[in-house]
Amino acid sequence: MTYRIAVVPGDGVGPEVIAEGVKILNTVEANCPELRFEYTYFPFGCEYYLKHGRMIDDDGIERLSAFDAIYLGAVGYPGVPDHISLWGLLLKIRKSFDQYVNLRPIKLLNGAPCPIKNVGQKDVDMLFIRENTEGEYAGEGEWLNKGTELEVARQVGIFTRKGTERVIRYAFELAKREQKTLTSITKGNALNYSMVFWDTIFRQVALDYPDIKTSSYHVDAASMLMIRDPGRFQVVVASNLFGDILTDLGAEIAGGIGLAAGANLNPERDYPSMFEPVHGSAPDIAGQEKANPIGAIWSVSQMLDHFERPDLGEKVLKAVEGVLKEGIALTPDLAGKAKTAEVGDAVAAQLASLIR
Ligand code: NAI
Ligand code: MG
Repeated sequence: MTYRIAVVPGDGVGPEVIAEGVKILNTVEANCPELRFEYTYFPFGCEYYLKHGRMIDDDGIERLSAFDAIYLGAVGYPGVPDHISLWGLLLKIRKSFDQYVNLRPIKLLNGAPCPIKNVGQKDVDMLFIRENTEGEYAGEGEWLNKGTELEVARQVGIFTRKGTERVIRYAFELAKREQKTLTSITKGNALNYSMVFWDTIFRQVALDYPDIKTSSYHVDAASMLMIRDPGRFQVVVASNLFGDILTDLGAEIAGGIGLAAGANLNPERDYPSMFEPVHGSAPDIAGQEKANPIGAIWSVSQMLDHFERPDLGEKVLKAVEGVLKEGIALTPDLAGKAKTAEVGDAVAAQLASLIR
């Protein structure tokens, strides 16, 4: 089976960590004769914007649509406003390809450091499902009377029944498959339209899944509980904004932002799904070989799951755990001295021996 992968390394540390993820895919390929990966690189990003005045070519989305998956590093760099780079590329891909599920594991790997006292691996094992195409990031609103005393900005959240129901249903199906509890996170007391709507749909869909234990929390209480008692969260579903924020909090609980990965899925497979580390382009450490590639490698594990090879996805995570436990090839964010490529080499070596 040959998989065609569109690689968009992007800006800052993006290309540095993506090179290590590709190293892992190449290791899989070298040890699995039945699999082949073909890469096509795209230069889209902030440098491209500064040269051409756009983050992606006019026919870029159409060209990307032909691939089995997109592997993205990070976008955003000083010199290009963040709302331009984010909307011009990342959000454009997520929306054009209807990647409405953003799947982010918050799982403390064996050997990863947890900043919370008395909390271990069995307590930090969550799977966040963030709505990824609408909600607070719908891009609706206006900015009137700019620069005057009557200036006003309105940012409108859009929650459709279709968009809300499908992501909640996806979460229930996942909880059912994995025999886990499902938590919905909203803020219905203050956001009296959108979040009351979400809570209502959550209750309606829950009727179809009587065997699944559910909880609902307000986002403020949920952020407190994620620190105090992370073990109570298993599968979690949240809107675009809340999911975005809580998964950065979660990343920190699970060893740091350098380890976190996210899959942008179009579950119907009408369009390619996209795999990326959660972190940004980290301009403060770019070009210094300090970036931790584990988040990017974890997203390769998610890509292998998506290619219906969860056995290989799991081996990639086992290889990462092996490297974390050894404690030799770790980047500075994990108190080590290794360079980005040395971490990739170490994971690749462990992976090769796990597959063989
Ligand atoms: P960031 O994630 O780039 O960096 C936050 C902090 O985490 C920095 O101190 C950085 O050094 C550290 N960090 C990030 N990735 C790391 C890694 N792999 N290894 C070790 N340390 C790492 O977030 P920030 O600073 O808010 O944003 C920088 C740029 O990235 C902005 O232009 C922003 O818009 C963009 N961004 C892009 C994202 C994406 O493409 N998915 C996500 C978040 C931000
Ligand atoms: Mg984020």
